[in-house]
Amino acid sequence: MTTRTLPPKCGAYNVAEEWMEGEPFSWERVHPVFSWYQTGNVNMAYECVDRHVEEGKGDKIALHYFTESEEETYTYKELQQEVNRWSNVLKAHGVKKGDFVFVFLPKHPYCHIAMLAAIKIGAVVGPLFEAFMEEAVKDRINDCDGEYLITDLKFLDRVNRDEIPSLKTVFTTDFELAGSDVSITKEAAEADDTADTVWVDLDDGLNIHYTSGSTGKPKGIIHAHRNMIQQYQTGRWVLDLKEGDVYWCTAHPGWVTGTVYGVFAPLLNGVTTVIHGSRFSAKSWYQVLEQAKVSVWYSAPTAYRMLMAEGDKTLNKYNLYSLRHILSVGEPLNPEVIHWGERTLNLRIHDTWWMTETGAQLVANLPTRTIKPGSMGRPIPGIEVAVLDDNGEILPAGKTGHLAIKSSWPSLMKEVWKNQEKFNSYFPYGPEWYIAGDLAYLDEDGYVFFQGRSDDMINSSGERIGPFEVESKLIEHEAVKEVGVIGKPDPVRGEIVKAFIALNPGYDGSEELLEEIRLFVRKGLAAHVAPKEIEVVEELPKTQISGKVLRRELKKRDTEKAG
Ligand code: WTA
Repeated sequence: MTTRTLPPKCGAYNVAEEWMEGEPFSWERVHPVFSWYQTGNVNMAYECVDRHVEEGKGDKIALHYFTESEEETYTYKELQQEVNRWSNVLKAHGVKKGDFVFVFLPKHPYCHIAMLAAIKIGAVVGPLFEAFMEEAVKDRINDCDGEYLITDLKFLDRVNRDEIPSLKTVFTTDFELAGSDVSITKEAAEADDTADTVWVDLDDGLNIHYTSGSTGKPKGIIHAHRNMIQQYQTGRWVLDLKEGDVYWCTAHPGWVTGTVYGVFAPLLNGVTTVIHGSRFSAKSWYQVLEQAKVSVWYSAPTAYRMLMAEGDKTLNKYNLYSLRHILSVGEPLNPEVIHWGERTLNLRIHDTWWMTETGAQLVANLPTRTIKPGSMGRPIPGIEVAVLDDNGEILPAGKTGHLAIKSSWPSLMKEVWKNQEKFNSYFPYGPEWYIAGDLAYLDEDGYVFFQGRSDDMINSSGERIGPFEVESKLIEHEAVKEVGVIGKPDPVRGEIVKAFIALNPGYDGSEELLEEIRLFVRKGLAAHVAPKEIEVVEELPKTQISGKVLRRELKKRDTEKAG
């Protein structure tokens, strides 16, 4: 084994200096950090960008972008100017406060700029995952009658405008104008680099993310500008972001982690954010860590497992000594991964838990706390959790039940778009407890141990997949008569999507047909939701009364078969 020197320490952790374990904490303590505390003027984009320039940090690198062949940086001042230019273009084309602006762009500074420009003029930004195909894009924009979209020429063919009647203007980030209405980059180059911020209320809409549960199509979760309170604070205490940090969150802003901890939290904390534009490979990731001198790194267990599988030999070729703090989110972090981090990087990986709906981290291994491998950590300051039984009664330590959070907290979702019933469904036992849909138990010390979902939601590589959306697509294929989709345990990805299908008469279960069906989902929705496994069955298990497919039964049979 190669001996590695200790990574650089960065003084005491922020949380250690600012809070004593056990001390009461009120979110109001965070308010004076923001300019609105003095001025009364609220806007997330202002707090992320303009404020730093006004405080004399304009020359600091805000964004550091890499691909295998390119490298580009934006200082806070340059970011401000670019955001201003883009917001002037959006405004000139009619975008105003409260409008939905969808952003469908790859991991690139333009994605950050587009989001911040829309927010600066009070619009509600809807980042779309870069792998979404036609139907996934259409369903989301149609659900909230989105009028504006900022995209890339490469993605434009996945936007079927005939089927998105609400769409008024499509902005593209490329200079040629093939099929778009406005080249935002071209117009921005000529636009004024100063712009007025549109002031909003803390409770006004900030962003919308569509997210899956076990039933129905994805729902639009809307968050408000007040989220910045918790997003700043968790950036400071959980990610331990400090003035000199170079921070890399590997998620795309189409996932909530990529928006909250890839855009807002690091910029609110005024650090340098790394954006990596290439696809995952161990080599390119290690290279980014080395070249950008990343000090704080936030990723997901699947990525860590993939790096682990690549072996120490690859890792040891890189100088990763700038790393000082590593975190994980999105799926269970298995103890082997924590041990791998300790052994190879001399760092413990800190798990964090939260959801799209919760808007920021709620349970975490603060850098100052002892990690118990297998546990997600404990509630962060200001958050109280409990485990409830099916009647909403609090269970004692060691008993598994519904993971519940005492409401409310600053970044809890504002609403589920046009679906009050769905919003209420998170509070089945009354307004006191938000129910996550996760099953967990607490130990005697209050550490939270994740035990699975209480519904059929699938978690593959930390990506949340609703079986209903996949089933709806599969059933559109002419060969498919009936379908049930489940998450099947997988050693690297946590779960993979597995579909059970019954075929219409005249179709065989040949490999070609199954491949065609897989491709049908891949091309219609997105690659990551396409079933990795398809099993043809005569008939699917169903409930007697409603005839609904019993996913639970499929899962049980599948597990038994796997032995
Ligand atoms: C799961 C991602 C185990 C959980 C930020 C939750 C986790 C869902 C963890 C939310 C973790 C998130 N350990 N499971 N540390 N973090 N999850 O909305 O089931 O994409 O309900 O938000 O991911 O997924 P979402």
